[in-house]
Amino acid sequence: MTCGLPYVNGPCHIAHLRTYVPADIFVRYLRKMGQEVVFISGSDTHGTPITVKAEEEGVSPAEVMEKYHQHFVEFFPKIGINFSNYGSTDHPFNHARTVQIMEALRENGYIYAKEIKLPYCPNCDRFLPDRYQRGICPHCGSSARGDECDQGCGRYLEPGELMDPRCSICGTKPVMRETRHLFLKLTAFEDFLREYLPAMDGTEIARNYALKWVESGLKDWNITRNLDWGVKVPGEEELVYYVWVDAPIGYIASTEEWAERTGGDWEYYWKGPGHLIHFIGPGIIYHHCLFWPSMLHGAGYSVADAVIASGTMKVEGHVFSKSRGYVIWVEEDYLDKGLDPDALRYYIASYTGHTRDLDFNWATYGEKVNKELVGTLGNFLYRALLFAQRNYGEIPGGTVEQEVKEEVEKAIESIR
Ligand code: MF3
Ligand code: ZN
Repeated sequence: MTCGLPYVNGPCHIAHLRTYVPADIFVRYLRKMGQEVVFISGSDTHGTPITVKAEEEGVSPAEVMEKYHQHFVEFFPKIGINFSNYGSTDHPFNHARTVQIMEALRENGYIYAKEIKLPYCPNCDRFLPDRYQRGICPHCGSSARGDECDQGCGRYLEPGELMDPRCSICGTKPVMRETRHLFLKLTAFEDFLREYLPAMDGTEIARNYALKWVESGLKDWNITRNLDWGVKVPGEEELVYYVWVDAPIGYIASTEEWAERTGGDWEYYWKGPGHLIHFIGPGIIYHHCLFWPSMLHGAGYSVADAVIASGTMKVEGHVFSKSRGYVIWVEEDYLDKGLDPDALRYYIASYTGHTRDLDFNWATYGEKVNKELVGTLGNFLYRALLFAQRNYGEIPGGTVEQEVKEEVEKAIESIR
């Protein structure tokens, strides 16, 4: 079981928990049912989310990474989530696994190099990968950043696709410059994806979106960036792998860390008969259902049995947004106020179905906690205990009647 790796460019917020809490509940459930589960996550440490943040703060990407990696390591147990391994995509295992997988893909004929023209900022004197550009989404016309239509249709954008780009650091209009990049032949995986996706388990929304994208035509995928923070591409001085290459490979590397520590067998899950389930947020279906299975399949690894995408998150009726302040920082705004982690877990799990919109709202939170936890559950326990104390002075011993046992069994069965 994996949980999408958080970018370590800021602390844990409530939209993270939208995915992690249900995943944790599912893991606990599977374990109760007697399954052996390795629960994997880790920090997503590379790419422009980290480098842009570092530039904003005037520190190195490594400093940003270390600060927030440490935060997540300490944070998850506080909210009751204990991963079998919480790794890091900057771990040597991940650098090595990324190079190995990309080499396997190259040997199998799935990777080629090509000279392309990309936006270059003459003022900052560099190429503008991903979050270094803002412009207009070619699909829906919304304001978007280099690799993602973050304010409109949510589509993944290939380098060079963004219209009317500007440097997001200085606002300058970039010039186009030729540069050599590597591509994954995603088009070669069309037949594989058409077979794999309809059979893939998990939430319908993941399957349906992915199939729709295959229908609308695949494009080869630019897998390198002109950056020096990331996993270096062997033999290509100027390039690192795109963060979406080494990030999901981090699931494997994190499983390798677990295996090293516990003597477990990571290949059982990634190359053998073990089952694989990915819990992810709604914005990263494209990466998990098109790029990732193609990479795994093309390099001789197992692909996921299921992809479970959660619904979106709102805060007080507004689309979740860190920059616009519609966000709850779980440590600062919740735990540090002395509020109970289980109450928040309960709220997230019981608010609505896993694939629906969840609108976090302090008033509904208070109401649910007071009515359902304090009123119903707390009151039931209080009455039962008070009754026992009044009549027996203790919780009396005795046997459970057959009828009661049967009711309990029925309840367990219906929950299952
Ligand atoms: N860091 C990414 C995000 O927040 C998720 C990475 S998931 C992985 O959108 F699959 F790449 F690991
Ligand atoms: Zn768009």
